[in-house]
Amino acid sequence: MNQEFSKNLRAWYRENGRKLPWRTTKDAYKIWLSEIILQQTRVNQGLPYYEKFLENFPSIEGLAVASEDQILRLWQGLGYYSRARNLHAASKQVVEEFGGAFPDDFIKLRSIKGIGDYTASAIASFAYDLPHPVVDGNVFRFLSRFFGMDVPIDSTEGKKAFNALALELMDGKHAAEHNQAMMEIGSLVCKPISPNCDDCPFSMACHALIYNKVSDYPVKGKKLPSKKRYFHYFLITDGIHTYIKRRNEKDIWQGLYELPLVEVFESTDFPPDIPAVAKLHQPKMNQHPFKRKHILSHQELHTCFWTVKIDATHAPKGDYLKVNLADLSKYAFPQLIVKFFHHEDLE
Ligand code: ADE
Repeated sequence: MNQEFSKNLRAWYRENGRKLPWRTTKDAYKIWLSEIILQQTRVNQGLPYYEKFLENFPSIEGLAVASEDQILRLWQGLGYYSRARNLHAASKQVVEEFGGAFPDDFIKLRSIKGIGDYTASAIASFAYDLPHPVVDGNVFRFLSRFFGMDVPIDSTEGKKAFNALALELMDGKHAAEHNQAMMEIGSLVCKPISPNCDDCPFSMACHALIYNKVSDYPVKGKKLPSKKRYFHYFLITDGIHTYIKRRNEKDIWQGLYELPLVEVFESTDFPPDIPAVAKLHQPKMNQHPFKRKHILSHQELHTCFWTVKIDATHAPKGDYLKVNLADLSKYAFPQLIVKFFHHEDLE
């Protein structure tokens, strides 16, 4: 262990670190919640979600008995909704298997739904001061620049090498503070673009800075191209109601609501046949759809939104739910669709 490194880092952190609510608690439930949210978004955007979740569910028992719809509604806007479903499953597991308390053991933490190496290390170190290094994107970037690591961070070999290095650097007696400090220097100083090398306590010995290669790090492997998908959505309305449907398939956005969808396999600006639910009542469709490209982690969605005016709606058909336009905000929709609602002034 390199005591000097950890000592300097922690001294910098005590002076410069942000005072964030999950840093002043040892409550594993709050720490877990913050980490799951922060895997999805930045600190500033994550803070209101963290507060909202704790307000609704001050303890894990409340979260465990909540409905999936309520959790997805609170999660709305963060994206990657399988994390929210895992959050729910994990809360039930902690209540049932561990009596409502997160275990103070890395292997047991790792067995909880949605908790990988990173989150298990975060809980183990932040809540229980156990010597497990956390290696998130900020830590990868800082270490790869400082040590000039040429192994790709997204390879199995790279993950092993960075983990071993982070463990080597850690002062196990100060696991929580050390890990927070590692993340914080990556986040505040060793930033992806325009890092503040002038303010960095490690700049004198930074490999990337010395060799003028800061923007070459971290090294990443080749990414697979995103899959392209083409969605046509239909807002079918008599001016008061519309139809929505819950996505139940094992696909993107599982558990969220959406408008009637026709997926096609080639890009086209022309609407496909309108869904049958709109056909009975003199449908009139706009000619210029609202178009959006929406990027997910492995998919690129090309979407057209069509508004179909009908003179009356009938009872819900098939899997569709007939809802009032004014009630749309009660359901969890993907951000893409929420943006369309805002554009149409519906929410
Ligand atoms: N990002 C992920 N975990 C974090 C933490 N504990 N503090 C600040 N940013 C984070």
